[in-house]
Amino acid sequence: MTQDRLHIAIQKSGRLAEKSLELIRSAGFRLNRSASDLTYSVENAPIDLWCVRDDDIPTFVGDGVADFGIVGRNVLAERASASGADDPIEVMALGFGRCSLRIAAPESFAYDGPKSLQGLRVATTYPHLLKRFLREQNIDAGIVTMRGAVEVAPRLKLAEAICDLVSTGATLEANGLKALTTVLESEAVLVRAPGPMRPQVAQVGESVVARFRGVIASQGAKYVMMNAPRSALARIAEILPGAGGPTVTPLSGRDDAVAVHAVCQESVFWETLEELKAAGASAILVLPIEKMM
Ligand code: PRP
Ligand code: ZN
Repeated sequence: MTQDRLHIAIQKSGRLAEKSLELIRSAGFRLNRSASDLTYSVENAPIDLWCVRDDDIPTFVGDGVADFGIVGRNVLAERASASGADDPIEVMALGFGRCSLRIAAPESFAYDGPKSLQGLRVATTYPHLLKRFLREQNIDAGIVTMRGAVEVAPRLKLAEAICDLVSTGATLEANGLKALTTVLESEAVLVRAPGPMRPQVAQVGESVVARFRGVIASQGAKYVMMNAPRSALARIAEILPGAGGPTVTPLSGRDDAVAVHAVCQESVFWETLEELKAAGASAILVLPIEKMM
């Protein structure tokens, strides 16, 4: 735990824990787990990972105790201070851990827009976000703050509705609840401490950000190659999903045809290949991309 190592706080257990480690490994960092299970050290870069409760991550990163954190936007938003001055800064969305903070009530609840919540009690572990939502909607409702297991609140008659994270929807269903409206869309995000990076770790910090961007960009991206008549180039560029300008190179001994290479940021479906073929392309290859920077 020396000061010349970059400190990244990640969730110890829960929905983001495994995926966070996977992202770090995909970025080429080799992890050694400590005997205590509370930290990992990166073998091939000056980085330590701290495994902590997700609710503590915004505080650690906000105070600069950790340089970076991987945390749900929901946790970050709930902890955000009124001034925002000492809050962690979101560097990028990480594309996993998608879920939404929703208001839900028993199946039988007659819902006709947020005003149906007027005068009721809503149980949640997200009192700040709920309060803001109710204020924005001009609803006067009671907030019952709990530490967990809010899905049981309606059955225990502690509240008429709940405001909780929904990912697959299994928890709501198992408890006879239905979602009424969404308060916040969330996913895992990379956050950094406010203010300039510590000089000892600035370089490795930049490398972490660049590699994470590369991992995320290459997910789902494909390298597409084909031969095509010159005359079809404009049409082919239209068909290629999420590609910048494709690279066009001459084919030896052919004036009328070229090779086209492109990085496609979106999925390439069979339908896309059929359209390319119909436009005159041949020898179409779609390849996975392993790394990108
Ligand atoms: C959330 C939420 C629900 C569950 C919903 O808890 O409180 O219990 O996930 O997921 P589902 O729609 O897939 O059933 P989480 O596991 O994030 O734990 P925490 O909020 O206590 O950290
Ligand atoms: Zn939690």
